[in-house]
Amino acid sequence: MSQHHRVLEVDRLSVIHRARGRRGLPVVACDEVSLSIAQGEIVGVVGESGSGKTSLAMAVAGLGRITSGTATVSGVQIGRRLPRESRAEIQVVFQDPHGSLDPRQTVQRGLKELRRIHPRRTSWIGDEELLAKVGLDPLLLGRLPHQMSGGQAQRISIARALLLRPSLLLADEPTSALDVSVQAQILRLLLSLREEEGLTILFISHDLAVVRAICDRVHVMLRGKVVEEGVTSEVFDRPQHEYTKRLLAAIPGHSTPDSTGDKAGASASVGATVAREAS
Ligand SMILES: Nc1ncnc2c1ncn2[C@@H]1O[C@H](COP(=O)(O)OP(=O)(O)OP(=O)(O)O)[C@@H](O)[C@H]1O
Ligand SMILES: [Mg+2]
Repeated sequence: MSQHHRVLEVDRLSVIHRARGRRGLPVVACDEVSLSIAQGEIVGVVGESGSGKTSLAMAVAGLGRITSGTATVSGVQIGRRLPRESRAEIQVVFQDPHGSLDPRQTVQRGLKELRRIHPRRTSWIGDEELLAKVGLDPLLLGRLPHQMSGGQAQRISIARALLLRPSLLLADEPTSALDVSVQAQILRLLLSLREEEGLTILFISHDLAVVRAICDRVHVMLRGKVVEEGVTSEVFDRPQHEYTKRLLAAIPGHSTPDSTGDKAGASASVGATVAREAS
């Protein structure tokens, strides 16, 4: 792993949200979090609601507060005043596929706007070919967000991210709002984009089954701290931290340790895995 190019390096990153309201106390959302991702890896962050996952993602994307520590993407340190070119290196796909698209804009208009802002980054591919990469019919170019299903809208969000050739894709619960069968399709799409485009992904989820299906490595967060990390199959088969054990115990049917462990196998059976473990 270490011989590969490091796309993301997070070093003792802390995020403290200011108090809300007069009596509110500041919230330590991330407490000295460190992690790194090599080119082409899919690395997961799991933890219960409020453990700091989105705060971490927003900080890494340059969209949220960094109280101390650093996040570096392809050698550029993240801060609030990133130049446009560096900002484009990190693309984010959010949970709500419709909410992240402009409701008044057809898919094609939206792509056109991205191409106008980033003419050089986006010239590598045409609209129809881009949609084909995310498994969509070119007919969808004329659609407005409300004329698409959740799965289609999420594919469009992924296509828009892909168009900018980011060195890092941040996916924050990208399948949580989707039906289980559509979830599996989107996960398979992300895996194939990693294979074909060399996409590097920081994958955030509260859903261990989903993380198991696509992440090479995983970090477990509890109240802002990373309490356990490692190769996904090892963390799942031999959890060390009590919290990880509790999370795993909550997955129906988890007691059968998955012996395949390798990514090729996981990728081929992601639908079955997700369907079985999420049901
Ligand atoms: N802008 C904000 N101002 C104040 N507190 C915040 C802010 N954003 C998040 N928090 C608090 O920080 C903590 C971590 O929140 P965060 O959204 O990062 O968690 P999460 O792991 O993404 O949760 P979920 O699984 O529900 O999305 C929570 O206690 C939350 O209430
Ligand atoms: Mg969140």
